[in-house]
Amino acid sequence: MDCPCCGKDCVRPAQDVLASIDTMYMACPDCAADPNLGKSSPVKELPERIDRCNSCGRAPLDVVMLDALNILVEMGLRDDGDNLRSVGSPLIAVGYKLAYPPRLGPKSLIIAGEHLRKDAAETILRRIPEVKGVILTGGVPGVVDSERGPREWSLLAGCGMRGDVIQSLFGDLVIYRSQSKIHIEFPRSGSPKMKILESLYFKGKVTDVVDGLCGPGTLGLMCVLAGARRVVLNDIWLPAVENVMLNLEANKDLLGIEDIERLEHPTDAVAGEPVLVGRASGACEIEVYHGDLKRLFSKARPASLCLIDHFPGSDTRRLEEVCRCCVETVIV
Ligand SMILES: C[S@@+](CC[C@H](N)C(=O)[O-])C[C@H]1O[C@@H](n2cnc3c(N)ncnc32)[C@H](O)[C@@H]1O
Ligand SMILES: [Zn+2]
Ligand SMILES: [Zn+2]
Repeated sequence: MDCPCCGKDCVRPAQDVLASIDTMYMACPDCAADPNLGKSSPVKELPERIDRCNSCGRAPLDVVMLDALNILVEMGLRDDGDNLRSVGSPLIAVGYKLAYPPRLGPKSLIIAGEHLRKDAAETILRRIPEVKGVILTGGVPGVVDSERGPREWSLLAGCGMRGDVIQSLFGDLVIYRSQSKIHIEFPRSGSPKMKILESLYFKGKVTDVVDGLCGPGTLGLMCVLAGARRVVLNDIWLPAVENVMLNLEANKDLLGIEDIERLEHPTDAVAGEPVLVGRASGACEIEVYHGDLKRLFSKARPASLCLIDHFPGSDTRRLEEVCRCCVETVIV
């Protein structure tokens, strides 16, 4: 599978990622202890540089962020009072709940931060082998409110595609997202959203599902894994819909998908009338729409369960009203 962002091999089949995830970020027997640098310590109190492991070549996360901080100081974007936290958020290319600080190999980290510049991002990418992309952030990317315009972060250098391992009682999936266009959502331990899905499953309700605000597809695809017969995924934001189509392909074997059809290639980033973009068949009948949930049921058949997973603090009353044609609506 070619990565839609850089054309290289960033997107691997989910089963291959899951088979290697437990050792992906582990230290080798020769790796030095984690330096555990103070995240709030100013540059002047930090070591200048720490070498990578001689045997495996990998670097603790702090070491990579230290290198990035030093480049930003050198280029005048940070000063010696700044600290590791000031660089931005370190996003490992495949997010996974780890009980230890990760050791990073080549192209395994995306840095997402404020006050970054293209030339500095390109220098970071050229000089730090572990970094695969640098993103300039600001606000929440995507469509937070359909009345207001969308927002994108800016991919300054490299590739912005990354995945997260999502775990549930039904099994694990790898959900890829274009990180400069889709909000960050860390896989949290005891994930509250998965707990809601699991509880619905035990009540026998995960059979015919609409994931109305699906983002890259986490909940809807988890419903497929849980054995649903029909799942409709819908989002108003085209990059989210494109990520869903990619995630169908990447998780194809785990989801028992036999065939994926691409029906339309919408051009508007924010949807008006819902468009059926793609379909997948096999163990479950899956439909993927690019549409405003307020209009979805003019095209898609209502379901017995409709999931509404909006951004925290968003008003969902109007959406709940339009989903009354479904037997049950659950706010996730
Ligand atoms: C919190 S995110 C969903 C996250 C997703 N369930 C997941 O677990 O990855 C909310 C999503 O709602 C979408 N959205 C916002 N307003 C919408 C609307 N009126 N119709 C359809 N999608 C909408 C946004 O584009 C965004 O992807
Ligand atoms: Zn890529
Ligand atoms: Zn090592």
